[in-house]
Amino acid sequence: MARGALAFVCQSCGAAHPKWSGRCDDCGAWNTLIEEQAAPPAGASARRIGKGRPFALEGLSSAAEEPQRRLTGVGEFDRVAGGGLVPGSALLLGGDPGVGKSTLVLQVLGAYAGAKKTAVYVSGEEALAQVRLRAARMGLAKAPVQLGAATCVEDILATLATASPPDILVIDSIQTVWTSALDAAPGTIAQVRTATHDLVRYAKSTGVAVILIGHVTKDGQIAGPKAVEHLVDAVLYFEGERGHHFRILRAVKNRFGATDEIGVFEMTGTGLAEVSNPSALFLGDRSGLAPGAAVFAGIEGTRPLLCEIQALTAPTGYGTPRRAVVGWDAGRLAMILAVLDARGGLGISGRDVYLNVAGGLKIAEPAADLASAAALISSYTARPLPKDCVLFGEIALSGDVRPAPHAEARLKEAAKLGFARAFVPAGTKAHGVALALESVEDVSDLVRLVGDSRS
Ligand code: TYD
Ligand code: MG
Repeated sequence: MARGALAFVCQSCGAAHPKWSGRCDDCGAWNTLIEEQAAPPAGASARRIGKGRPFALEGLSSAAEEPQRRLTGVGEFDRVAGGGLVPGSALLLGGDPGVGKSTLVLQVLGAYAGAKKTAVYVSGEEALAQVRLRAARMGLAKAPVQLGAATCVEDILATLATASPPDILVIDSIQTVWTSALDAAPGTIAQVRTATHDLVRYAKSTGVAVILIGHVTKDGQIAGPKAVEHLVDAVLYFEGERGHHFRILRAVKNRFGATDEIGVFEMTGTGLAEVSNPSALFLGDRSGLAPGAAVFAGIEGTRPLLCEIQALTAPTGYGTPRRAVVGWDAGRLAMILAVLDARGGLGISGRDVYLNVAGGLKIAEPAADLASAAALISSYTARPLPKDCVLFGEIALSGDVRPAPHAEARLKEAAKLGFARAFVPAGTKAHGVALALESVEDVSDLVRLVGDSRS
Protein backbone atom coordinates (compact mmCIF):
# COMPACT_ATOMS: atom_id res chain seq x y z
CA MET A 1 0.00 0.00 0.00
CA ALA A 2 1.42 3.37 -0.98
CA ARG A 3 2.53 5.60 1.81
CA GLY A 4 -0.13 8.00 2.93
CA ALA A 5 -2.89 6.07 1.16
CA LEU A 6 -6.22 5.73 2.91
CA ALA A 7 -7.06 2.40 4.42
CA PHE A 8 -9.78 1.00 6.62
CA VAL A 9 -8.08 -0.03 9.82
CA CYS A 10 -9.67 -2.32 12.38
CA GLN A 11 -9.63 -0.55 15.74
CA SER A 12 -9.58 -3.83 17.54
CA CYS A 13 -6.72 -5.73 15.91
CA GLY A 14 -5.04 -3.15 13.67
CA ALA A 15 -5.49 -4.99 10.36
CA ALA A 16 -5.72 -2.67 7.34
CA HIS A 17 -8.30 -3.37 4.61
CA PRO A 18 -8.61 -1.65 1.25
CA LYS A 19 -12.43 -1.57 1.45
CA TRP A 20 -14.89 -0.90 4.25
CA SER A 21 -16.94 -3.76 5.55
CA GLY A 22 -19.06 -4.35 8.60
CA ARG A 23 -16.79 -7.03 9.97
CA CYS A 24 -13.02 -7.26 10.20
CA ASP A 25 -11.89 -10.33 8.25
CA ASP A 26 -8.86 -10.73 10.48
CA CYS A 27 -10.27 -10.75 14.00
CA GLY A 28 -13.99 -11.03 13.30
CA ALA A 29 -14.93 -7.91 15.28
CA TRP A 30 -17.99 -6.03 14.07
CA ASN A 31 -18.14 -2.35 13.24
CA THR A 32 -14.52 -1.64 14.00
CA LEU A 33 -13.21 -0.45 10.61
CA ILE A 34 -12.38 3.26 10.48
CA GLU A 35 -10.87 5.14 7.59
CA GLU A 36 -7.33 6.19 8.41
CA GLN A 37 -4.23 7.41 6.72
CA ALA A 38 -2.17 4.25 6.49
CA ALA A 39 0.74 4.67 8.89
CA PRO A 40 4.12 4.60 7.25
CA PRO A 41 5.92 1.53 8.46
CA ALA A 42 8.21 2.28 11.40
CA GLY A 43 11.48 3.63 10.17
CA ALA A 44 10.26 4.01 6.57
CA SER A 45 11.10 7.68 6.44
CA ALA A 46 14.70 6.88 7.16
CA ARG A 47 14.95 4.31 4.38
CA ARG A 48 17.79 5.02 2.05
CA ILE A 49 18.32 3.60 -1.36
CA GLY A 50 21.79 2.24 -1.91
CA LYS A 51 24.26 0.48 0.31
CA GLY A 52 23.66 -0.01 4.02
CA ARG A 53 26.25 0.73 6.64
CA PRO A 54 27.88 -2.33 8.25
CA PHE A 55 27.75 -2.68 12.01
CA ALA A 56 29.75 -4.80 14.42
CA LEU A 57 28.28 -8.04 15.71
CA GLU A 58 28.93 -8.87 19.34
CA GLY A 59 28.92 -11.90 21.61
CA LEU A 60 26.29 -12.74 24.18
CA SER A 61 28.42 -12.06 27.22
CA SER A 62 29.29 -8.51 28.01
CA ALA A 63 31.60 -6.82 30.46
CA ALA A 64 29.04 -4.09 31.16
CA GLU A 65 27.17 -4.53 34.39
CA GLU A 66 23.48 -5.18 34.31
CA PRO A 67 21.66 -1.91 34.95
CA GLN A 68 20.17 -1.77 38.39
CA ARG A 69 16.42 -2.17 38.54
CA ARG A 70 14.43 0.64 40.01
CA LEU A 71 12.46 -0.54 42.99
CA THR A 72 9.44 1.65 43.46
CA GLY A 73 8.66 0.73 47.05
CA VAL A 74 5.27 -0.78 46.22
CA GLY A 75 6.29 -4.38 46.78
CA GLU A 76 3.44 -6.09 44.94
CA PHE A 77 4.02 -3.94 41.85
CA ASP A 78 7.79 -4.49 41.89
CA ARG A 79 7.40 -8.24 42.13
CA VAL A 80 4.98 -8.49 39.22
CA ALA A 81 7.25 -6.24 37.14
CA GLY A 82 9.97 -8.85 37.67
CA GLY A 83 11.80 -7.22 40.58
CA GLY A 84 11.52 -3.50 39.85
CA LEU A 85 11.48 -1.43 36.69
CA VAL A 86 14.30 -1.88 34.18
CA PRO A 87 15.93 1.37 33.01
CA GLY A 88 15.22 2.06 29.35
CA SER A 89 12.20 -0.25 29.26
CA ALA A 90 8.58 0.40 28.44
CA LEU A 91 5.78 -1.21 30.43
CA LEU A 92 2.15 -1.21 29.43
CA LEU A 93 -0.42 -1.23 32.22
CA GLY A 94 -3.80 -2.23 30.82
CA GLY A 95 -7.18 -2.60 32.43
CA ASP A 96 -10.86 -1.72 32.27
CA PRO A 97 -11.72 1.93 32.78
CA GLY A 98 -12.21 2.66 36.46
CA VAL A 99 -10.36 -0.38 37.77
CA GLY A 100 -7.72 1.82 39.43
CA LYS A 101 -4.82 2.19 36.99
CA SER A 102 -4.30 5.90 37.65
CA THR A 103 -4.52 5.26 41.38
CA LEU A 104 -1.91 2.51 41.16
CA VAL A 105 0.63 4.52 39.16
CA LEU A 106 0.20 7.57 41.37
CA GLN A 107 0.87 5.37 44.36
CA VAL A 108 3.91 3.84 42.66
CA LEU A 109 5.31 7.27 41.76
CA GLY A 110 4.53 8.67 45.19
CA ALA A 111 6.39 5.81 46.85
CA TYR A 112 9.32 6.09 44.47
CA ALA A 113 9.94 9.82 44.11
CA GLY A 114 12.38 11.26 46.58
CA ALA A 115 15.83 12.69 46.84
CA LYS A 116 17.71 11.90 43.62
CA LYS A 117 14.77 9.87 42.34
CA THR A 118 12.71 11.74 39.80
CA ALA A 119 9.28 10.79 38.60
CA VAL A 120 7.11 12.51 36.01
CA TYR A 121 3.38 11.92 35.61
CA VAL A 122 1.82 13.14 32.38
CA SER A 123 -1.96 13.01 32.42
CA GLY A 124 -3.91 13.31 29.21
CA GLU A 125 -7.21 12.40 30.80
CA GLU A 126 -7.51 14.35 34.00
CA ALA A 127 -6.85 17.99 34.77
CA LEU A 128 -3.98 18.66 37.16
CA ALA A 129 -6.41 19.72 39.87
CA GLN A 130 -8.09 16.31 39.70
CA VAL A 131 -4.77 14.49 39.99
CA ARG A 132 -3.82 16.69 42.98
CA LEU A 133 -7.15 16.01 44.63
CA ARG A 134 -6.62 12.29 44.30
CA ALA A 135 -3.05 12.57 45.59
CA ALA A 136 -4.29 14.51 48.61
CA ARG A 137 -6.87 11.84 49.31
CA MET A 138 -4.18 9.19 49.16
CA GLY A 139 -1.89 11.15 51.47
CA LEU A 140 0.66 11.79 48.73
CA ALA A 141 0.25 15.55 48.39
CA LYS A 142 3.83 16.13 49.54
CA ALA A 143 5.46 13.53 47.27
CA PRO A 144 7.93 15.17 44.85
CA VAL A 145 6.22 13.87 41.70
CA GLN A 146 6.27 16.26 38.76
CA LEU A 147 2.91 16.63 37.06
CA GLY A 148 1.99 17.67 33.57
CA ALA A 149 -1.17 17.68 31.50
CA ALA A 150 -0.42 17.11 27.82
CA THR A 151 -1.53 14.91 24.98
CA CYS A 152 0.76 15.78 22.07
CA VAL A 153 3.73 13.42 22.04
CA GLU A 154 6.03 16.06 20.50
CA ASP A 155 5.13 18.46 23.34
CA ILE A 156 5.79 15.76 25.92
CA LEU A 157 9.18 14.86 24.46
CA ALA A 158 10.16 18.54 24.06
CA THR A 159 9.24 19.22 27.69
CA LEU A 160 11.25 16.24 28.91
CA ALA A 161 14.23 17.31 26.81
CA THR A 162 14.50 20.61 28.71
CA ALA A 163 15.69 18.87 31.87
CA SER A 164 17.65 15.74 32.64
CA PRO A 165 15.52 12.65 31.96
CA PRO A 166 13.46 11.42 34.92
CA ASP A 167 13.90 7.91 36.30
CA ILE A 168 10.27 6.98 35.75
CA LEU A 169 7.80 8.50 33.32
CA VAL A 170 4.09 7.69 33.33
CA ILE A 171 1.78 8.45 30.41
CA ASP A 172 -1.89 8.27 31.41
CA SER A 173 -3.23 7.13 29.00
CA ILE A 174 -1.72 6.06 25.69
CA GLN A 175 -5.12 6.42 24.01
CA THR A 176 -5.15 10.17 24.58
CA VAL A 177 -1.68 10.76 23.16
CA TRP A 178 -1.39 11.82 19.53
CA THR A 179 1.31 12.90 17.14
CA SER A 180 1.02 15.85 14.78
CA ALA A 181 2.73 13.76 12.10
CA LEU A 182 -0.52 11.91 11.42
CA ASP A 183 -3.94 13.18 10.42
CA ALA A 184 -5.80 10.40 12.19
CA ALA A 185 -7.90 11.22 15.25
CA PRO A 186 -6.38 10.62 18.70
CA GLY A 187 -7.19 7.17 19.97
CA THR A 188 -7.06 5.47 16.58
CA ILE A 189 -4.69 2.57 16.09
CA ALA A 190 -2.32 4.57 13.91
CA GLN A 191 -1.98 7.33 16.50
CA VAL A 192 -1.60 4.98 19.44
CA ARG A 193 1.02 2.93 17.64
CA THR A 194 3.07 5.90 16.51
CA ALA A 195 2.94 7.56 19.93
CA THR A 196 3.95 4.31 21.61
CA HIS A 197 6.77 3.87 19.15
CA ASP A 198 8.08 7.39 19.87
CA LEU A 199 7.86 6.90 23.63
CA VAL A 200 9.56 3.49 23.50
CA ARG A 201 12.37 5.03 21.47
CA TYR A 202 12.66 7.80 24.05
CA ALA A 203 12.92 5.20 26.82
CA LYS A 204 15.62 3.22 25.01
CA SER A 205 17.71 6.27 24.16
CA THR A 206 17.59 7.90 27.60
CA GLY A 207 17.32 5.01 30.05
CA VAL A 208 13.99 6.24 31.44
CA ALA A 209 11.58 3.56 32.64
CA VAL A 210 8.33 4.41 30.89
CA ILE A 211 4.93 3.21 32.11
CA LEU A 212 2.12 3.53 29.57
CA ILE A 213 -1.46 3.18 30.71
CA GLY A 214 -3.95 1.68 28.27
CA HIS A 215 -7.67 1.17 28.58
CA VAL A 216 -9.12 -2.08 27.44
CA THR A 217 -12.48 -1.54 25.83
CA LYS A 218 -14.67 -4.15 24.31
CA ASP A 219 -16.65 -1.92 22.00
CA GLY A 220 -13.66 -1.26 19.77
CA GLN A 221 -14.17 2.49 19.60
CA ILE A 222 -10.79 3.19 21.14
CA ALA A 223 -7.71 1.40 19.94
CA GLY A 224 -7.04 -1.45 22.31
CA PRO A 225 -3.67 -1.79 24.00
CA LYS A 226 -3.45 -5.22 22.34
CA ALA A 227 -2.24 -3.42 19.24
CA VAL A 228 0.87 -2.13 21.01
CA GLU A 229 1.71 -5.15 23.15
CA HIS A 230 4.49 -6.19 20.79
CA LEU A 231 6.13 -2.75 20.99
CA VAL A 232 6.67 -2.72 24.74
CA ASP A 233 8.89 -4.81 27.01
CA ALA A 234 6.33 -5.79 29.60
CA VAL A 235 2.55 -5.90 29.73
CA LEU A 236 0.70 -5.95 33.04
CA TYR A 237 -3.04 -6.14 33.41
CA PHE A 238 -4.90 -4.73 36.35
CA GLU A 239 -8.08 -6.68 36.99
CA GLY A 240 -10.89 -6.56 39.45
CA GLU A 241 -14.48 -7.62 39.67
CA ARG A 242 -17.04 -4.92 40.17
CA GLY A 243 -18.46 -5.21 43.65
CA HIS A 244 -15.22 -6.63 45.06
CA HIS A 245 -12.65 -4.45 46.69
CA PHE A 246 -9.54 -6.24 45.69
CA ARG A 247 -7.62 -5.88 42.49
CA ILE A 248 -5.15 -8.26 40.89
CA LEU A 249 -2.12 -7.15 38.94
CA ARG A 250 -1.07 -9.82 36.47
CA ALA A 251 1.93 -9.97 34.14
CA VAL A 252 1.08 -11.27 30.67
CA LYS A 253 4.37 -10.46 28.98
CA ASN A 254 7.72 -9.62 30.49
CA ARG A 255 11.04 -9.55 28.69
CA PHE A 256 12.81 -9.24 32.03
CA GLY A 257 10.99 -11.60 34.34
CA ALA A 258 8.42 -14.31 34.88
CA THR A 259 4.86 -13.84 33.69
CA ASP A 260 3.08 -15.99 36.21
CA GLU A 261 3.25 -13.56 39.11
CA ILE A 262 0.25 -11.79 40.53
CA GLY A 263 0.06 -8.85 42.89
CA VAL A 264 -2.96 -8.36 45.11
CA PHE A 265 -4.28 -4.98 46.21
CA GLU A 266 -7.32 -3.83 48.06
CA MET A 267 -9.07 -0.62 47.04
CA THR A 268 -9.70 1.47 50.10
CA GLY A 269 -10.95 4.99 50.64
CA THR A 270 -7.37 6.24 50.65
CA GLY A 271 -5.92 4.43 47.69
CA LEU A 272 -4.73 0.88 47.15
CA ALA A 273 -3.48 -1.20 50.04
CA GLU A 274 -1.06 -4.03 49.33
CA VAL A 275 -2.29 -7.43 50.40
CA SER A 276 0.74 -9.45 51.38
CA ASN A 277 -1.27 -12.38 52.67
CA PRO A 278 -3.93 -12.90 50.00
CA SER A 279 -4.94 -16.36 51.25
CA ALA A 280 -6.54 -14.84 54.34
CA LEU A 281 -8.44 -12.42 52.10
CA PHE A 282 -9.77 -15.04 49.71
CA LEU A 283 -10.68 -17.51 52.40
CA GLY A 284 -12.74 -15.06 54.38
CA ASP A 285 -14.62 -16.21 57.45
CA ARG A 286 -14.64 -19.96 57.71
CA SER A 287 -16.65 -20.52 60.84
CA GLY A 288 -19.70 -21.90 59.04
CA LEU A 289 -19.77 -25.46 57.78
CA ALA A 290 -21.99 -25.46 54.74
CA PRO A 291 -21.89 -28.47 52.46
CA GLY A 292 -20.43 -27.64 49.04
CA ALA A 293 -17.40 -25.63 50.11
CA ALA A 294 -13.83 -26.84 49.69
CA VAL A 295 -10.53 -25.03 50.18
CA PHE A 296 -8.14 -25.25 47.27
CA ALA A 297 -4.43 -24.89 47.98
CA GLY A 298 -3.31 -23.19 44.77
CA ILE A 299 -0.20 -21.54 43.41
CA GLU A 300 -0.17 -18.21 41.60
CA GLY A 301 3.26 -17.50 40.19
CA THR A 302 5.72 -18.17 42.95
CA ARG A 303 3.19 -17.72 45.71
CA PRO A 304 0.80 -20.19 47.27
CA LEU A 305 -2.76 -18.94 47.43
CA LEU A 306 -5.59 -20.59 49.27
CA CYS A 307 -9.14 -19.97 48.15
CA GLU A 308 -12.56 -21.43 48.67
CA ILE A 309 -14.44 -23.23 45.90
CA GLN A 310 -18.19 -23.37 46.38
CA ALA A 311 -20.57 -25.70 44.59
CA LEU A 312 -24.30 -26.13 44.61
CA THR A 313 -26.25 -28.89 42.94
CA ALA A 314 -30.02 -28.79 42.73
CA PRO A 315 -32.74 -30.76 40.93
CA THR A 316 -33.27 -29.51 37.39
CA GLY A 317 -36.42 -27.48 36.90
CA TYR A 318 -36.46 -27.66 33.11
CA GLY A 319 -35.37 -30.28 30.63
CA THR A 320 -31.71 -29.31 30.28
CA PRO A 321 -29.67 -29.00 33.46
CA ARG A 322 -28.25 -25.56 34.06
CA ARG A 323 -24.53 -24.96 34.54
CA ALA A 324 -23.07 -21.73 35.81
CA VAL A 325 -19.39 -21.23 36.62
CA VAL A 326 -17.70 -18.15 38.04
CA GLY A 327 -13.92 -18.08 38.22
CA TRP A 328 -13.25 -21.47 36.65
CA ASP A 329 -13.38 -23.06 33.22
CA ALA A 330 -16.83 -24.30 32.16
CA GLY A 331 -15.31 -27.04 29.99
CA ARG A 332 -13.31 -28.31 32.93
CA LEU A 333 -16.45 -28.42 35.09
CA ALA A 334 -18.27 -30.48 32.46
CA MET A 335 -15.35 -32.89 32.42
CA ILE A 336 -15.24 -33.26 36.19
CA LEU A 337 -19.01 -33.89 36.30
CA ALA A 338 -18.69 -36.59 33.66
CA VAL A 339 -15.80 -38.23 35.53
CA LEU A 340 -17.71 -38.10 38.84
CA ASP A 341 -20.65 -39.87 37.20
CA ALA A 342 -18.68 -42.43 35.24
CA ARG A 343 -15.94 -43.27 37.75
CA GLY A 344 -17.36 -42.12 41.05
CA GLY A 345 -20.82 -43.57 40.64
CA LEU A 346 -22.71 -40.34 41.29
CA GLY A 347 -25.69 -39.14 39.28
CA ILE A 348 -24.72 -35.52 39.28
CA SER A 349 -24.76 -34.49 35.62
CA GLY A 350 -28.54 -34.60 35.40
CA ARG A 351 -28.81 -31.83 38.00
CA ASP A 352 -28.32 -28.08 37.92
CA VAL A 353 -24.77 -27.26 38.93
CA TYR A 354 -23.37 -23.94 40.10
CA LEU A 355 -19.68 -23.47 40.87
CA ASN A 356 -18.10 -20.33 42.26
CA VAL A 357 -14.59 -19.37 43.26
CA ALA A 358 -15.00 -17.15 46.30
CA GLY A 359 -13.86 -13.56 46.17
CA GLY A 360 -13.94 -13.20 42.40
CA LEU A 361 -10.62 -14.95 41.84
CA LYS A 362 -10.03 -16.72 38.51
CA ILE A 363 -8.33 -20.09 38.66
CA ALA A 364 -6.60 -21.64 35.67
CA GLU A 365 -4.63 -24.41 37.38
CA PRO A 366 -5.62 -28.03 36.64
CA ALA A 367 -4.72 -28.78 40.28
CA ALA A 368 -8.04 -27.22 41.27
CA ASP A 369 -9.87 -30.33 39.96
CA LEU A 370 -9.78 -32.19 43.25
CA ALA A 371 -11.11 -29.28 45.31
CA SER A 372 -13.89 -28.62 42.78
CA ALA A 373 -14.82 -32.29 42.71
CA ALA A 374 -14.88 -32.40 46.52
CA ALA A 375 -17.12 -29.33 46.64
CA LEU A 376 -19.49 -30.96 44.13
CA ILE A 377 -19.61 -34.27 45.99
CA SER A 378 -20.10 -32.46 49.29
CA SER A 379 -23.04 -30.48 47.91
CA TYR A 380 -24.52 -33.56 46.24
CA THR A 381 -24.27 -35.72 49.36
CA ALA A 382 -25.06 -32.78 51.69
CA ARG A 383 -22.04 -33.64 53.82
CA PRO A 384 -19.76 -30.76 54.70
CA LEU A 385 -16.03 -31.26 54.28
CA PRO A 386 -13.87 -31.00 57.40
CA LYS A 387 -13.32 -27.36 58.27
CA ASP A 388 -9.56 -27.75 58.65
CA CYS A 389 -8.88 -29.48 55.34
CA VAL A 390 -7.35 -28.30 52.06
CA LEU A 391 -7.20 -30.09 48.71
CA PHE A 392 -5.24 -30.06 45.48
CA GLY A 393 -4.63 -32.46 42.60
CA GLU A 394 -5.51 -32.94 38.97
CA ILE A 395 -8.19 -35.42 37.91
CA ALA A 396 -7.66 -37.47 34.76
CA LEU A 397 -10.46 -38.78 32.54
CA SER A 398 -9.79 -42.24 33.97
CA GLY A 399 -10.75 -40.86 37.39
CA ASP A 400 -7.19 -41.09 38.69
CA VAL A 401 -5.85 -38.22 40.74
CA ARG A 402 -2.55 -36.91 39.40
CA PRO A 403 0.14 -35.11 41.38
CA ALA A 404 0.48 -31.34 41.22
CA PRO A 405 3.69 -29.29 41.30
CA HIS A 406 4.88 -27.29 44.34
CA ALA A 407 3.09 -29.58 46.80
CA GLU A 408 5.30 -28.50 49.65
CA ALA A 409 4.69 -24.79 49.17
CA ARG A 410 0.93 -25.39 49.08
CA LEU A 411 0.99 -27.46 52.26
CA LYS A 412 3.21 -24.98 54.10
CA GLU A 413 0.81 -22.15 53.34
CA ALA A 414 -2.11 -24.27 54.55
CA ALA A 415 -0.29 -25.12 57.78
CA LYS A 416 0.50 -21.44 58.29
CA LEU A 417 -3.18 -20.57 58.07
CA GLY A 418 -4.17 -23.15 60.64
CA PHE A 419 -5.29 -26.08 58.48
CA ALA A 420 -4.57 -29.52 59.89
CA ARG A 421 -5.47 -31.94 57.10
CA ALA A 422 -4.95 -32.20 53.36
CA PHE A 423 -6.47 -34.45 50.70
CA VAL A 424 -3.64 -34.88 48.22
CA PRO A 425 -2.68 -37.05 45.24
CA ALA A 426 -1.03 -40.34 46.20
CA GLY A 427 2.72 -40.04 46.55
CA THR A 428 2.72 -36.43 47.73
CA LYS A 429 5.43 -35.83 50.30
CA ALA A 430 5.65 -32.98 52.73
CA HIS A 431 8.90 -32.74 54.61
CA GLY A 432 8.53 -31.06 57.93
CA VAL A 433 4.98 -29.86 57.39
CA ALA A 434 2.69 -30.57 60.30
CA LEU A 435 -0.32 -31.57 58.25
CA ALA A 436 -2.09 -34.94 58.23
CA LEU A 437 -2.03 -36.11 54.62
CA GLU A 438 -4.83 -38.21 53.19
CA SER A 439 -3.89 -39.85 49.88
CA VAL A 440 -6.57 -39.81 47.20
CA GLU A 441 -5.94 -42.39 44.47
CA ASP A 442 -9.00 -41.74 42.33
CA VAL A 443 -12.44 -40.13 42.43
CA SER A 444 -14.14 -43.10 44.08
CA ASP A 445 -11.60 -42.66 46.87
CA LEU A 446 -12.64 -39.02 47.11
CA VAL A 447 -16.35 -39.91 47.21
CA ARG A 448 -15.63 -42.28 50.08
CA LEU A 449 -13.50 -39.73 51.96
CA VAL A 450 -16.12 -36.99 51.66
CA GLY A 451 -18.81 -39.44 52.77
CA ASP A 452 -16.75 -40.49 55.81
CA SER A 453 -15.72 -37.01 56.80
CA ARG A 454 -16.80 -35.66 60.11
CA SER A 455 -15.93 -32.15 60.95
P1 TYD B 1 -8.89 5.20 38.69
O1 TYD B 1 -7.49 5.05 39.18
O2 TYD B 1 -9.31 6.55 38.28
O3 TYD B 1 -9.19 4.18 37.52
P2 TYD B 1 -8.60 4.13 36.04
O4 TYD B 1 -7.44 5.06 35.96
O5 TYD B 1 -8.20 2.68 35.88
O6 TYD B 1 -9.70 4.48 35.13
O7 TYD B 1 -9.81 4.63 39.86
C1 TYD B 1 -11.13 4.84 39.84
C2 TYD B 1 -11.87 4.14 40.93
O8 TYD B 1 -11.13 3.94 42.11
C3 TYD B 1 -13.02 5.00 41.30
O9 TYD B 1 -14.19 4.30 40.97
C4 TYD B 1 -12.90 5.26 42.76
C5 TYD B 1 -11.90 4.31 43.25
N1 TYD B 1 -11.01 4.88 44.29
C6 TYD B 1 -11.19 4.49 45.61
O10 TYD B 1 -12.05 3.70 45.94
N2 TYD B 1 -10.33 4.99 46.56
C7 TYD B 1 -9.35 5.88 46.26
O11 TYD B 1 -8.61 6.33 47.16
C8 TYD B 1 -9.19 6.28 44.89
C9 TYD B 1 -8.14 7.26 44.51
C10 TYD B 1 -10.04 5.75 43.94
MG1 MG C 1 -7.33 6.84 34.88
